[in-house]
Amino acid sequence: MKEFRNLVSSEDFSCEELLELMELGAEIYSNPEKFSEKCRGKILASLFFEPSTRTRLSFEAAMLRLGGSCITVPDPKVSSATKGESLQDTIRTVGCYSDIIAMRHPHEGSAELAKEVTLVPFINAGDGGHQHPTQTLTDLLTISQYKKSLENMTIGLCGDLKFGRTVHSLVKTLSKFKGNKFIFISPVELVIPEYIKMYLNDRNVEFIEVRTIEEVMDKLDILYMTRVQRERFFNEADYVRLKDTYILDNKKMKTAKDDMIILHPLPRVNEIATEVDSDHRAKYFNQVKFGMIIRMALILKLLEVK
Ligand code: NCD
Repeated sequence: MKEFRNLVSSEDFSCEELLELMELGAEIYSNPEKFSEKCRGKILASLFFEPSTRTRLSFEAAMLRLGGSCITVPDPKVSSATKGESLQDTIRTVGCYSDIIAMRHPHEGSAELAKEVTLVPFINAGDGGHQHPTQTLTDLLTISQYKKSLENMTIGLCGDLKFGRTVHSLVKTLSKFKGNKFIFISPVELVIPEYIKMYLNDRNVEFIEVRTIEEVMDKLDILYMTRVQRERFFNEADYVRLKDTYILDNKKMKTAKDDMIILHPLPRVNEIATEVDSDHRAKYFNQVKFGMIIRMALILKLLEVK
């Protein structure tokens, strides 16, 4: 059987491969027409068992902009999963119809299970509170475009660091690049998981944990804001108590470096005041565009299109 690559975890690609992907992303960004027929005749299947706007549409738009086509299950409530079909059987089935699969699922580890049985390249588009490697590729392309490097940066990550899967994937990946330091800004209830801290300690990567943005703002090269992940809370009262802990506004931005960039995987709830959108450092809507571009690059890589 033909061997192929999947993307399940942000550790699946080496730094060299990530840099190659960033280069391809930059090329697609500056010359999209060159790639518009590269996947003619190929089909992407998107399987989203959790809500999504950006990730799903950016995968589908990426495949369409490469000249390929997409199939999807419009509402997981009408899929055979509700008849009791196992995830493995669904993945095997979908692989008979498509050339590549992107799946989002509410359970941590579901992507690992899917990878074991898939017949075609498989992409994890978010598995519960665990990982979201294609958001990390999006973040890396945005950072490399605005900061011209993925090294020697102080990165502040703010908000729900416990359940925020984009944070988990991004920290693990950026820690592989030289000289990056992390500042984790969260309420005590939503601190970064112990396993991430162990991962950083094992690799001698510097990090600190703080409770306010103000005390570290002037040190940051990147501020990565996140929403509190309501759907992963066990009770609504805790969510309500914590949801507005951090609201980034123009006043807090006053002490930030002039070339700091603000990123957010989106959706935003309340954590960035809309007045910040017009600040030249706000890059979260540019990030959305880079998300589609880097998924084009990823599809080309996994389908081994030259
Ligand atoms: C993120 C996700 O789904 O984890 N969104 C996204 O894919 N852009 C972040 C979030 O939902 O808060």
